[in-house]
Amino acid sequence: MSISIVILAAGKGSRMKSTTPKVLHSISGKSMLFHAIDAGQKISDDITVVLYHQATRVQEAIEAEYQNINFHMQDAEKFPGTGGAMKGIETKYEKTLILNGDMPLITQNSLEALTGGNADINMSVIRLENPTGYGRVLINNEKVQEIVEQKDCNASQLETKTVNAGIYCINSELLNRYIPQLSNDNVQAEYYLTDIVKMAVDENKTVTPIYVEEEEFKGVNSKLDLAEAEVIMQNRIKKQLMAEGVTMRFPDTIYIDCRATFTGESILENGVTILGASKIINSHIKTNSVIEDSTIENSDVGPMGRIRPLSYLKDTHVGNFVEVKKSTLTGVKAGHLAYIGDATIEEGSNIGAGVITCNYDGKNKYKTTIGKNVFVGSDSQLVAPVTIEDDVMIGAGTTLTKDVKKGSLALTRSPLKLIPDFFYRFFGK
Ligand code: UD1
Ligand code: MG
Repeated sequence: MSISIVILAAGKGSRMKSTTPKVLHSISGKSMLFHAIDAGQKISDDITVVLYHQATRVQEAIEAEYQNINFHMQDAEKFPGTGGAMKGIETKYEKTLILNGDMPLITQNSLEALTGGNADINMSVIRLENPTGYGRVLINNEKVQEIVEQKDCNASQLETKTVNAGIYCINSELLNRYIPQLSNDNVQAEYYLTDIVKMAVDENKTVTPIYVEEEEFKGVNSKLDLAEAEVIMQNRIKKQLMAEGVTMRFPDTIYIDCRATFTGESILENGVTILGASKIINSHIKTNSVIEDSTIENSDVGPMGRIRPLSYLKDTHVGNFVEVKKSTLTGVKAGHLAYIGDATIEEGSNIGAGVITCNYDGKNKYKTTIGKNVFVGSDSQLVAPVTIEDDVMIGAGTTLTKDVKKGSLALTRSPLKLIPDFFYRFFGK
């Protein structure tokens, strides 16, 4: 791991039209910047993130998730631009890889290609039919000569179809020497990092173009870019999971968080959403169900089941319109229309239609504990905190407010009145 990484994340991101810093927008459940950091951490233990716009917010978000990330505050008023962003950074190792915080789709393979070899500079290059917007890379005999920003191009340079994808791996000693020499003598009056290429060429250093896929080096600048990047990331995630044996019905309708993991053989029907760091183990998730930050093992959920964070389902059947939150269900059947929150329920228990754990009194949350082989009749309310021991029956429509001992029947039921011919007396014959 003898490579330092700098991630540029100081830009304003005004095209995103958002109060959230651009790099904190998420792709498949993880912010773009974290995708970049995670890719970087696979090859480096020296990562510096350059901040300026909404610096505190971005730094706090990073610190909540990662340790050992260095921060560098760009003096963007005095030194605007990608070269300005690098001013004053000291990297630890011989080579420095420069990444952008808004490129969440780069793969480890490409990073390895960019950091390999012995060139003084490796730079990412894409061939594009329509190069509009990018810096043009002038190449001669497989050697890069110069990068010219679109706004600084002359007519013939504008025709160049090899463009700068914006990622570089540079000999750190050269980088440290060139950055102070950058000038802002260009159309945008910015300090361009790209100018170091010309400086290196003038000193007969080698600058190697590494041809990369446009899809991976897509910069995300707008909500449209964000949506397009999401589709690319989702397709990758699903393709990988299918290769590992997950069955997906109409994959285009399925959404899977990049932090979710699958073990064994599972089936996801159309419209399924898997959020957070969910673990799906040998399970069948049926149409339009949502699983969030939960573990589902040898179980089936849905159609239209909702499993909210911190739930663990094992050998369990959860049917339609059942919501489970922060609960552990082992060997349970809850077939229809129920709310199970802050509960543990053990093997052989059946939760009838319309059962509700009343876990919240408006101030605090309370636990419901249900033992083995408990039959909870339909439309019962279990007012927590409450414990139901093994082998208990709860009659339909019960409002349970006390603990129930093993083997009992619990029942609240007002006596049924039957008044013959009442209808006719009320409405007439
Ligand atoms: C840059 C390249 C261009 C390349 C393109 C690829 C330069 C001068 N040009 O252009 O050749 O084709 O990327 O996408 O580098 N940033 C800062 N501080 C700043 C300005 C930018 O940290 O003062 C960060 C941004 O947050 C972003 C990255 O640098 O992550 C790239 O900045 P951006 O403005 O998008 O560069 P381009 O003008 O697109
Ligand atoms: Mg730009």
